[in-house]
Amino acid sequence: MTENKKIHKRYTVTAALPYANGPIHIGHLAGVYVPSDIYVRYLRLKNKDVVYICGSDEHGVPITIKAMQEGKSPQEIVDKYHKINKDSFADLGISFDIYSRTSNAVHHETASQFFTTLYNKGEFIERTSMQLYDEKSKQFLADRYVTGTCPHCSFDRAYGDQCENCGTSLSPTELINPHSVLSGNAPVLKETKHWYLPLDKHTPWLSSWILEGHKDDWKANVYGQCKSWLDHGLQPRAVTRDLDWGVKVPLKEAEGKVLYVWFDAPIGYISATKEWAEQKNADLKKSGSDKLIDWEPYWKDVGTKLIHFIGKDNIVFHCIIFPVMLKTEGSFIVPENVPANEFLNLEGDKISTSRNWAVWLHEYLQEFPGQQDVLRYVLTANAPETKDNDFTWKDFQTRNNSELVAILGNFVNRSLVLTHKFFNGIVPESSDLLPNDEEVLKAISEFPERISNSIEHFRFREALNDLMNLARIGNKYLTETEPWKLIKTDEKRTRTILNISLQLCANLAVLSAPFLPFSSDKLYSILNMNKLQWVEAGKPDVLKNGHALNQPELLFAQIEDAAIEKQIQKLNKVKAKNESNAFTTTSAKPMIDFEDFAKLDIRTGTILEAQRVPKTKKLLKLTIDTGIDKRTVVSGIAEDFTAEEIIGKQVCLLVNLAPRNIKGIESHGMILTAEDHDGKLYFICPSSLTRNGSEVK
Ligand code: 2FM
Ligand code: ZN
Repeated sequence: MTENKKIHKRYTVTAALPYANGPIHIGHLAGVYVPSDIYVRYLRLKNKDVVYICGSDEHGVPITIKAMQEGKSPQEIVDKYHKINKDSFADLGISFDIYSRTSNAVHHETASQFFTTLYNKGEFIERTSMQLYDEKSKQFLADRYVTGTCPHCSFDRAYGDQCENCGTSLSPTELINPHSVLSGNAPVLKETKHWYLPLDKHTPWLSSWILEGHKDDWKANVYGQCKSWLDHGLQPRAVTRDLDWGVKVPLKEAEGKVLYVWFDAPIGYISATKEWAEQKNADLKKSGSDKLIDWEPYWKDVGTKLIHFIGKDNIVFHCIIFPVMLKTEGSFIVPENVPANEFLNLEGDKISTSRNWAVWLHEYLQEFPGQQDVLRYVLTANAPETKDNDFTWKDFQTRNNSELVAILGNFVNRSLVLTHKFFNGIVPESSDLLPNDEEVLKAISEFPERISNSIEHFRFREALNDLMNLARIGNKYLTETEPWKLIKTDEKRTRTILNISLQLCANLAVLSAPFLPFSSDKLYSILNMNKLQWVEAGKPDVLKNGHALNQPELLFAQIEDAAIEKQIQKLNKVKAKNESNAFTTTSAKPMIDFEDFAKLDIRTGTILEAQRVPKTKKLLKLTIDTGIDKRTVVSGIAEDFTAEEIIGKQVCLLVNLAPRNIKGIESHGMILTAEDHDGKLYFICPSSLTRNGSEVK
């Protein structure tokens, strides 16, 4: 393929839109967001015209399930996680040009229009099929909305698509005693009509585009998966669903149907680009500029290089289905590359949101303040580029202490401290170069191109390793030439050595910027210099003789054993909880008489106020309107709910429990919750709002 020879006028870089039903973890970061950010920061340093697109994927069944589990609306769920994820990406320095969301109006319009164009061109086929239907709640049921007994292991809470106990993939009709999670009723089969994209029809084009065109420039894992899909034969794929959360299908006969989330989500990249252009234009107009931006060339001009960064579970959607959509629409370009990564495991186990087996970005940012680059570094040095890799806290510590601190930080610090000590922080001149000086200058001139080449081929580990090799060369140079001794006998030579060391530091500032943006900024500031473009790297005289440096500051700090132990303990607790809760249901308590039950006075009530009980992890102090009175209840729910999110929530509570003193607060009653297999608590609440004080019988 001629990919590398093509001159690109601009770049559109997308990062998979994460579902807004949970926070971001290190697996997401290593797979998609850190590599794409490195790539984009590098392109910007090369002065390329690039737009970097991401946002929340806010549709699909997992979001509606999460909403149902938490007793909230899907919109409340996506609002919550959109904010958490947008903020934590920004804190990590992931430099999206826009972080949009698929619930925005511009997205609904764009996705709907896209469907209509394909529909009008006759690109869909219509099919009717029998699907499970809940007659009580009058809804077709997505596979996840059906539960029952697993035919393989007899686990009684298997989902219609998978049994989470034995891991078998299922179809809902295989479940023994299936029932709808909406009403508890047994579902029936009912006919429904959907629109399908006949992927099989596009096989010849896909085969020539991917199998012939991208054999050499797509990653082996990506190419291999595409080949396997094509070899097995493509089937038509339904692009609509019977669901009430999503982009409405723009056809009269499709009442109650929405676009399949995997049809609308990638169109989200396009809608976000439109939104980005609108925002930019508003700013441009404000600043009096008459040059406005047009989103279309970023998606339609053949001079644009479109790159999708994704995880390996998204390959078929980005390499086969979305390209077919783009191609059949007729006016869009298709991706030049889809550099999907493999998966990152955590301490030897698959990362799992439901088992809470993850390092969550928002927690990392709180627990390791100011250490964003350490995480970026470790996730790049250990990126699952060609195979699944493992993140361990010990490795995290070693990479920080023995690499960032001992190699990069140490070299910069030594160069600066010595210059301040011997030359008052003024860049000394160099003269009469010797072979070891020439060797360092050669490395300075060659490494930018090597690093570029690795980045342009999506080999970010290799690029980062070269960056560190350059710092290693600097350390070796100082160790061999010993300027701290030489100053006593040969000041001229010391000047040369420190000049060259400082030139290397300045080069490291620009070359590290894509990978370690916070440390690069700090280094620029210590060196008291303006930021450079990538083309300026490689030069031996970036810092002029006589230039005054700022005081040295450490770029990286040691991470002590205690901080790592704390993280390991945290994971051990999760593991212990998972093991003790591993799908066991406690056996029933001894029988009681109706009179015993009747003694319990359970009422509905609304939480009016909530606040953390200081110095406790689990306790919230609540004020509840019980319909009878307004009272204080102390509840051990703070690990599962924030104070803000539960205000206004209606719950059930035992109102005639004798008052108890908890952490110095008198508690008058107890809120009812159910504890799931993973230890997570859910409120028991009426299915519709009731008058507070209603008796639960
Ligand atoms: O796997 C996921 O998290 C999906 N939400 C990715 C969507 S990528 C794109 F199509 F928007
Ligand atoms: Zn099973």
